[in-house]
Amino acid sequence: MTNVSAVEAPFSMSGRAEYEAAVQRLRDASRTYYGAGYSLMDDAAYDRLRLAVLDWEAEHPDETAPDSPTGRVADGAAPAGDVAHTARLLSLDNVFTPEQLTAWGASLRRRLGHEPAGGFTVEPKMDGAAVAARYRDGRLTQIITRGDGTHGEDASHVIGTVVGLPEQLPVPATFEARGEVLFTQEQFEAANETRAAHGAGVFANPRNGTAGTLRAKDRPYRLAMTFWAYGAVELDGVPFLPAGAGHAETLAAVARAGVRTTADTPAGLHTVATLDEAQEKVDAIAALRASLPFGIDGVVVKADSATEQATAGFGTRFPYWAVAYKLPAVERQTVLQDVFWEVGRTGVLAPTAVLAPVELDGSTVTRATLHNPADILRRDLHIGDTVTVYKAGDIIPRVQAAVVELRPQDAVPVPLPHECPHCGGGIDKSQERWRCAKGTACALAPLIEYAAGRDILDIDGLGRKYVDALIASGDVGDVADLFTLTEEQLTAASGSAKRGARLAEQIRLAKTRPLSRVFCALGVPGTGRSMSRRIAAHFGTMEAIRAADADTLQDVEGIGPEKAPVVVEQVAVLAPVIDKLIAAGVTMTEPRPERAEDAAEGPLSGKTVVVTGKMTGPLDGWGRSEMGALIERAGGRMGGSVNSRTAFLVAAPTAGGKPSSKAVKAQEAGVEVLTPEDFAALVADHLE
Ligand code: IVH
Repeated sequence: MTNVSAVEAPFSMSGRAEYEAAVQRLRDASRTYYGAGYSLMDDAAYDRLRLAVLDWEAEHPDETAPDSPTGRVADGAAPAGDVAHTARLLSLDNVFTPEQLTAWGASLRRRLGHEPAGGFTVEPKMDGAAVAARYRDGRLTQIITRGDGTHGEDASHVIGTVVGLPEQLPVPATFEARGEVLFTQEQFEAANETRAAHGAGVFANPRNGTAGTLRAKDRPYRLAMTFWAYGAVELDGVPFLPAGAGHAETLAAVARAGVRTTADTPAGLHTVATLDEAQEKVDAIAALRASLPFGIDGVVVKADSATEQATAGFGTRFPYWAVAYKLPAVERQTVLQDVFWEVGRTGVLAPTAVLAPVELDGSTVTRATLHNPADILRRDLHIGDTVTVYKAGDIIPRVQAAVVELRPQDAVPVPLPHECPHCGGGIDKSQERWRCAKGTACALAPLIEYAAGRDILDIDGLGRKYVDALIASGDVGDVADLFTLTEEQLTAASGSAKRGARLAEQIRLAKTRPLSRVFCALGVPGTGRSMSRRIAAHFGTMEAIRAADADTLQDVEGIGPEKAPVVVEQVAVLAPVIDKLIAAGVTMTEPRPERAEDAAEGPLSGKTVVVTGKMTGPLDGWGRSEMGALIERAGGRMGGSVNSRTAFLVAAPTAGGKPSSKAVKAQEAGVEVLTPEDFAALVADHLE
């Protein structure tokens, strides 16, 4: 068996032998996927091969293999299991373009004998594993995998670990929820950490991880997953659904019973009248894809009306009243050819993966970020490995994991550097992110160039060439030296008196930049432009920043317990540079109209409020920035994490009733926890 991801699968096949080989490859791929739990080829390669096989079968109906995988649920490869399904658990037909969606609409119209009158629903196609969850008298009694659609495997061992599938409902309902179980991105990362701690390999991607977790009955650890229902059927003959309920109404009944549905995902469930409007919703959900906290591989369009669904009916694999609009692959497999290391402006050693070129979400990917050495070791990456690579929208491509089963014999673990790849000096390995022991001094030229940039110190005309010359002459050894350069020194570096004079004037102007920019120019790790703005806005003066300890720094939104001590330490290390900046007359304050003393008078005057989780009640749908603005209108400011100086924590009760980590911390620190409703009442005059 070969991995067909790097070499693209054929689009058409010329003869029967090629067809049979392709059918065999499809079988191999789905058998390893459903059986062994890893992928021999990625979805894009699989879909392409499958479409080519389908094309050939359409043209040669007499020669089609009777047991062709294209005609069966899960392509006939999922382990069947021994639990009979209440009603068949089907798959979905796919379309890939607006034209194909229109063609699907036309075929639906033919089957109905009229224009669909009941409208359409549009919802995300979640990329996990299908399960049926049986509730009896409000108790979750059994979870069953899809299997071959007729029989599935009992996966009840995951009961209690799936967010959205409570063990006990608030109502004594009896029904079967059908939907998708998956790892959200956050759960996926937590799962891989747990697995690493148990010496188990990391999951190649959330979907493989889900399939494996549903199958594994005897793991010494449990991993949290999430469920969203996309359908329901009645169980044991007990009435559950309202008479004649369409799709949206069915999901509403499931939600009323206390189980999460696709309508609860950030992508939502949309009801529209026409297929044109459905296409608009498909595009809207596709646009959300990169920002969703879980993977989707398409958008599902369904005829909403129960009567029209019944008239359209089912094929062997899928219903004729629903279709999956597949989105371009955001994950592919390719080969990790090499890893190189660079030193960033903050002295951090950044590894980059060199990949065999692969098409991903509209671009050819040849490079991907690899975070840090600990991460490389955790993933046990080898040069020569087939790896899964993820990229969606503008997200920088990232290597997810190695497909260990496809590892060639001569693969070698990714070598880690023994010396700084820039200056050849020692490496500081005390943090997960390794840094050159010289810190920012190692990568002085890129740092100075960065600091002189337009949205930082804005020293117009000071490009890399003159920066290099100033460093080579010994005139500049850190960013503060820029401010004591003479016109003569600048003339020498730039090769012209006119340029020298202009640069001197620009540097004089740069002394008046606000603290946020000056702080950013220091190159403290983890403090880019926006973080520097937040730090400067929070503390107001360099003096206050220098006086802050790790605990105080965590009042700044986005600074957690890991980043805070690093910032404190670096600010201390940079003390001589900061002193030189002060001596040179560089601005050390941030203009702060919103400083506590000038801030709006209100119920939160002088108070720090921390917000966590999804807002509810009058604040339903309010995001962080809206909450931040509200807090400021009421006279307070928003903090990043809970500590003894926090006045309130605003937290919605979590789905499972388990308090969030922030709520636990608030309790420990004696901080009052308010529900979004209580908080809204407190600041009622400032809501608008
Ligand atoms: S409807 C009878 N809706 O995609 C209708 N399926 O490729 C059958 N899936 O087997 C399914 N999100 O596991 C439906 N919103 C959604 C879905 C969804 C994910 C999965 C499901 C199905 C597979 C088909």
